[in-house]
Parts: sequence; C-alpha cells; structure tokens
Amino acid sequence: MSSIVSLADRINALEESATLGMTKKARELAALGHKVISLSVGEPDFKTPKHICDAAKKAIDDGFHGYSPVAGYPDLRKAIADKLKRDNNIEWNPENIVVSTGAKHSLANVISTLVNPGEEVIIFAPYWVSYSEMVKLAEGTSVIVDGAFDNNFKVTPEQFEAAITPKTKLVMFASPNNPTGSVYTEAELRAIGAIVAKHPNIFVMADEIYEYINFTEAGHFSIGSIPEIKDQVITVNGVAKGHAMTGWRIGFIAAAKWIADGVEKLQGQVTSGTNSIAQKAATVAFNGTLEEAYKMKEAYLRRRDLVVGLLREIEGFKVNMPDGAFYAFPDVSYYFGKSDGTTTIKDSDDFSMWLLADAFVATVAGTSFGAPDCVRISTAAADEQLVEACERIKASVAKLK
Ligand SMILES: Cc1ncc(COP(=O)(O)O)c(C=O)c1O
Repeated sequence: MSSIVSLADRINALEESATLGMTKKARELAALGHKVISLSVGEPDFKTPKHICDAAKKAIDDGFHGYSPVAGYPDLRKAIADKLKRDNNIEWNPENIVVSTGAKHSLANVISTLVNPGEEVIIFAPYWVSYSEMVKLAEGTSVIVDGAFDNNFKVTPEQFEAAITPKTKLVMFASPNNPTGSVYTEAELRAIGAIVAKHPNIFVMADEIYEYINFTEAGHFSIGSIPEIKDQVITVNGVAKGHAMTGWRIGFIAAAKWIADGVEKLQGQVTSGTNSIAQKAATVAFNGTLEEAYKMKEAYLRRRDLVVGLLREIEGFKVNMPDGAFYAFPDVSYYFGKSDGTTTIKDSDDFSMWLLADAFVATVAGTSFGAPDCVRISTAAADEQLVEACERIKASVAKLK
C-alpha cells in the first residue's frame, strides 16, 4: 500500500514546542547514562497539596465518572468566580467562566474564537513559546513587540500604542512572565489599560498562570479589574503552577458573556467538558487555603536568589532579576562567535544544544520565546541541583574562546 505524506499546511507551518523538544533530548541523554540536570521544563518540582489530591479520590468514590457540562461543573465555575473576586478584584458570574484542559487550551480557545484570518495579535516579547504558534493556527498575524533588557524585558505603553493598527484584534502577555519572570506593575497595567480603553475593538488576553509566584511587595495586579475595560479583557489562569498541578490539566477564562459563549461553543465541538475528577480537585484548590502555594513561592524566591547570584558570577552573562515565576533568563550573546575548538556558537540555539552536550544541563534557547540572545533556565529544581548546574555551566563556558 502506498502512503502519501500530506499533512495540512497549518501543521507543516507549525513549530515544534521547543521546551518539549529539549526535554525529549535531555531524556535521551539520561537514558544513555549521562547525569543530565534538566532545567528545561516549566514545571513545579513540588507535589500537588494533599487536600487537593484527597478531593480527587473522593470525586472518584462519589461517582463523578460521566461527561461534565462543557464549560465546567457549576460549583467549579462558582469557585473560580469567588477566587477572582477574592484575589483579583474581578467580578464575573459563573456564566462568564469557561473551564478547559489547562490554561494552554484556554489561550488557544480564545485565539480561535476571536481572531479572523489576517487580524493582528500584538504579543509582548519575550513571550511564552506557544502564543505565536496559536495565532498561526488561527491564521492571524503575530505582531511582536520587544521588551528591552533595561526595562526588565517589559514592553512600555508607548511601544504598545505604536504597534496598534486598524487590524489589531488582540494583545496578549503573561505577568508574571514566562520566560523572563517580569511582573507588570499596577501603574504599567493601568497605562496599558488606558490605551485599550481608546480602542473598543481591541481585546486583552491577560495570562495570569504565575499569579501566585510573584515576589514583588505590591503583589499581583489584574488588568481585568480595571472597570473601563472589563468587557475587553479575557483573564486566563489555572491550577498548574501555583498549586503544582501541571498534570491535572485545568485552566479557565473569565470574560464577557459573548466571548465565554463563543469559547464554550468551540470547546463543545472539539473536546467537551474537561476531566471530571480534575475539576473536583480544582474546586477545592480554588476554594481552599493558599498556605501550600505560599510555601512553594518562598522556595522559588530562595532559588531565584541562589541562581541569579551564581549566574551573575559567570563571565559575559547578563542576568535580569525576575520578579516572579521560576525561571532565570540570562543573555548569553557574549559567547556568540566563540568556539571550544570544535563547535562555534552562532546563536542561543547552538548555545543551548552545546551546553546540553558539554555540561549535560538542559536549558531552552530564547529563540522560540522571541529573545534570541537568551537561554531559559528553570529554577524549579532542588537547590543542590541548581548549584551543580550553575557550576557546570560556568566550567563549560570557560572553554569558549
Ligand atoms: C505563560 C504560560 N501560560 C500558560 C501556560 C500553560 O499552563 P497549563 O499547564 O495550565 O496549560 C504555561 C505553561 O508553561 C505558561 O508558562
């Protein structure tokens, strides 16, 4: 039987997830017996808190085995509405909330629901790897706006305003940010909000998945709490990072009813309601204590200080101070053009690959985050591993001349 390889253009045009790709390579080297330190994946190294796991076990025993409503169980949507009021000063009813299979799914749903072919999506860079690919899938056009290193990688309101055209449909960014850890202040978000208010046809996708991992004194501010633009903001969040629940796959959007209805319609045809057991666990996560989440945040803060301190000792590394999330994002462009005698490092893709081969430390090149001078190093690992990884990196780069 002959087979004709004929993938759809939209899949051929798609990049593979760089973070998952690097993780795969690191696993392959580890399987060969190398002592790989894997700092490429964006995943807490903590276990899901016990009270949440208990809720999942109870959900199985209580018989939540069937299909759930497409947008999520009513008690979960109510718990999310309460959480938004409590933590974010955002007032939406359960009918404004749609629960999906992780925040990633929520983001993709919104883009497919709102963006027409040819419409522009402004993405603040550095950005999370999947944003631009999701826009591509929806046949939209990404307009990348670069945050400068000297502004802690944040895009200024002036830069944002300059990027708006009659085709702009959406602007999207994460705060706290993956990969830079940058946190937009209330003043910065209000200034961005004031620009959005002048353009009623532009929507904001506020990715707040790292909300609970915020080291600033002022804490988290949600752009969706600004009354003038409430109907223009889609707040996206979930349980993956703050509650250490990456595998449970629960994310949500909170938005104007017509947007929530559109997302529910799409989801109803593509996946239906997400996992029933995980929904019951997430309900407890949203209603319950944040004590564990705060403990994890303290550990991430300690590791941030540790890793940034060690990376700043490495010759040529330029390292910003992340205010949240669990990544360090050094600029390593000092090493571009340098060689260990065999391999010449041209860019951060080369750097990251070379580092894996030489130091057995897995990182992710900044290229796919829209920051080709940098590499992302996850700090969600044990302190000893982080110290060893930094030592190995230092010893390896010393070979580059
Ligand atoms: C900025 C950002 N948004 C969304 C997600 C996806 O979260 P989830 O695991 O809930 O799909 C991630 C995961 O790495 C992320 O870093």
